Amino acid sequence: MEKTFYVTTPIYYVNAEPHIGHAYTTINADFLARWKRLDGYDTFFLTGTDEHGEKIAQAAARAGMEPQQFVDEVSAKFKKAWEILHISYDDFIRTTEPRHKKVVQQYLQEIYDRGDIYYGEYEGLYCVGCERFLTEKELVDGKCPDHGVEPELRREGNYFFKMEKYRTWLRDHISKNPGFIRPERYSNEVLSILSEPIGDLSISRPKSRVSWGIELPWDPNHVTYVWFDALLNYVSALGYPEGERYRKYWPVAQHMIGKDILKTHAIFWPTMLKAGVVEIYKHLNVGGHLLADGRKMSKSLGNVINPFEWSERYGPDAVRYYLLKETPYGVDGVVSEQGLVERYNADLANDLGNLLQRVRTMVIKYRGGLLHRRQPGPGEEKVVRASGSLAARVRNLIDELKFNQALEEVLQFVRLLNRYVNERAPWKIKDEEDLDRVLYTAVDGLRTVSVLLEPAMPVKMAELRSALGLEKLSVADVEDWGGLPDGHRLPEEAPILFPKVESKKTEQKSAPTGKADKDRVATIEYDDFAKLDLRVARVVSVEKHPNADRLLVLRLDVGGEERTVVGGLAEHYRPDELEGKLVVLLANLKPRKLRGIVSQGMLLAASDGNTLALLTPDDSVEPGAKIS
Ligand code: MSP
Repeated sequence: MEKTFYVTTPIYYVNAEPHIGHAYTTINADFLARWKRLDGYDTFFLTGTDEHGEKIAQAAARAGMEPQQFVDEVSAKFKKAWEILHISYDDFIRTTEPRHKKVVQQYLQEIYDRGDIYYGEYEGLYCVGCERFLTEKELVDGKCPDHGVEPELRREGNYFFKMEKYRTWLRDHISKNPGFIRPERYSNEVLSILSEPIGDLSISRPKSRVSWGIELPWDPNHVTYVWFDALLNYVSALGYPEGERYRKYWPVAQHMIGKDILKTHAIFWPTMLKAGVVEIYKHLNVGGHLLADGRKMSKSLGNVINPFEWSERYGPDAVRYYLLKETPYGVDGVVSEQGLVERYNADLANDLGNLLQRVRTMVIKYRGGLLHRRQPGPGEEKVVRASGSLAARVRNLIDELKFNQALEEVLQFVRLLNRYVNERAPWKIKDEEDLDRVLYTAVDGLRTVSVLLEPAMPVKMAELRSALGLEKLSVADVEDWGGLPDGHRLPEEAPILFPKVESKKTEQKSAPTGKADKDRVATIEYDDFAKLDLRVARVVSVEKHPNADRLLVLRLDVGGEERTVVGGLAEHYRPDELEGKLVVLLANLKPRKLRGIVSQGMLLAASDGNTLALLTPDDSVEPGAKIS
């Protein structure tokens, strides 16, 4: 099968300036598009702006501008924002463009002619923020849960699309195609909506009330309902119905959206496509929201974080990396500047940046910058094995939308390379061939990393390759150990890739507080210490404690023996961060029941009052190893 890929972001309303929520959805889509391109897919990536409707007309009026002038200005800001964040879109569609209007009118006319649109009266509760009628069930305390306002009761004459007619077809399609809406919980949410009648969809607004929209082709007194107009962008941008791009990319379409617009994409859109006798899209990928103060960030709530300020301070690639790595796709995430700084320093400055720096220095100092490809020996075994499967593992995780885990895989590899360099200690090696072997393997590993992290950090990874004297590469070039050519030379100079950044909190941490004195305890004899049976254990799986928010339940492998340990870690670690980790277990602590689950031991952790960090051996030792 031909490798083609089509991914879209929602088209953003131009009533608000671009903020981190928009950036998050767009970065996720860009990550996927860049990965697919690197992996050899002919890829088309679409984004754009949603420019019609009541909400936009109101915003233009508030700004004292003509709607068209207003939307031109804000749409340009989105383009600028995506430029700053290195968004590699192939097309940017605006719903006020003639190419889009033409398709909307044509599509409406076709459905109308087929008898799927009729005129009727409607009364319902309308939320202008959502630009749709809400059902009683969706309200929380009588208010829209996303916008925190009471919807207005509206009664008007509208044209209706026979959406209910397609309900059971859609329900069957979703049930038969488990990956159609991902992650699964959103699929279940939609199936539950579809288990009851959904009614027909009002798809027009009387011009007397809303004039900012696309006129219905058969009735100039009405304009098209903004969602009916907006959803069609995904095909109008491809040149529906005859365009070459449409033919090529539509059959493989995947939409990336935020969970707030699930209903419109999972119900309105497929039924609209079915009515137009158009094949429906392949996947709907649903992302969670980024939260600032426990609530979704949005202009109407006034709690917006500005990603462009972060971008200026730490660079766009660091912001991209942080947003992708911090939160598993599909669930809500809490983000903060402090979190960004910590992630940057740990993963990028320490793990990756230092490795590059150390390796480069040694290659230049010991071998004048020249690398020789030597057959790997037993000391290379772990690195060679990991190199041979890394790209495939990353690919699988990305295909399952586990972007954060895909990045963590690569970071684990970076950490393995750091350990490898420490273990093999090139500064001690006398044998030239062996020295070549180690330096080559380290640089070859960095070469692989530069490709696999590129979808997250396109500019920084190009810089990493320059520091290694390499040009653009693709995933196929890094599927295995040893792709770096024999006799390759590193450039003599390269700037520091990720300079460490200071954070307020770390400054405070290092200040003397006198706290250490207070925490000091009386001295003990060695025999007292020897009573502790401390063991290395590997975390096999982790679950949230069913009865306590702060607790996690960990299953450990302690050298063949399995143990369950309950710990107060939920505020500090996500379960998936812990899986696979080596930890230190106090194995002979008397078992204790914690909220109904018996904990067989305790994990050692360090805390400075703010952060809690689990202790982990700095090198790979087998589970069960004794600590003394
Ligand atoms: N115009 C419609 C989409 C039409 S698509 C045919 C719209 N626009 S929007 O600008 O209000 O929001 C678009 C998307 O931005 C949301 O679905 C979501 O993906 C993203 N986000 C907005 N705020 C968000 C967060 N706080 N966090 C993450 N994403 C959120 O809806």
